[in-house]
Amino acid sequence: MKFFLDTANSEEIERINRLGLVDGVTTNPTIIAKEGKNFETVIKEICALVPGPVSAEVTSLDSAGMIREAREISQWAKNIVVKIPMTEAGLQAVHTISKEGIKTNVTLIFSAAQGLMAAKAGATYVSPFLGRLDDIASDGIQLVSDLREIFDIYDFDTEIIAASVRHLGHVEEAALAGSDIATIPGNLFPKLWSHPLTTNGIAQFEADWQAFQEKQE
Ligand code: G3P
Repeated sequence: MKFFLDTANSEEIERINRLGLVDGVTTNPTIIAKEGKNFETVIKEICALVPGPVSAEVTSLDSAGMIREAREISQWAKNIVVKIPMTEAGLQAVHTISKEGIKTNVTLIFSAAQGLMAAKAGATYVSPFLGRLDDIASDGIQLVSDLREIFDIYDFDTEIIAASVRHLGHVEEAALAGSDIATIPGNLFPKLWSHPLTTNGIAQFEADWQAFQEKQE
């Protein structure tokens, strides 16, 4: 499973990129707003840091506006993916721009039917929102499994990005459900390589080694 970072924070991206673990980046208007910088500047900075796909979202709600924005955003860098919300206008925009070779990530997917519509419209990626489904006592992982099954049955190339990932369990379950990608918030990512027993184990080895060294002196 590929790891994308769900952040626009360049320090977070640089830190995790040093481990060779960043296959791509996703953003949305909320994430961009947090950085308090110009949208185009931030996206171009990220595209220069990460060679993999970088999702940048349109803010228009009508298809003409989405198409106009998508054409502009897609010129910012070679690795841009244009993020489009899952609406009728969004599907129309995806249908048009995917034929122009613009890569798309259809976002705010909450049902298998929505994912199937997006794939049929030509989406490169679909983003089911796990955490927000769990918030309303629905099953986010089941949606990822259902999309995996549908895309496999009908041979869609569209890749599944498990989004709205809130904890380590989501990442593990998304991997088991066959998600192509999990997009992980920058502050959650370090928890993937941490475990209290690892920390305790290192401290114990260090203490025992120290005691052994002192005995030998
Ligand atoms: O990028 C979309 C998604 O990952 C948002 O997550 O935590 O705001 O539901 P969240």
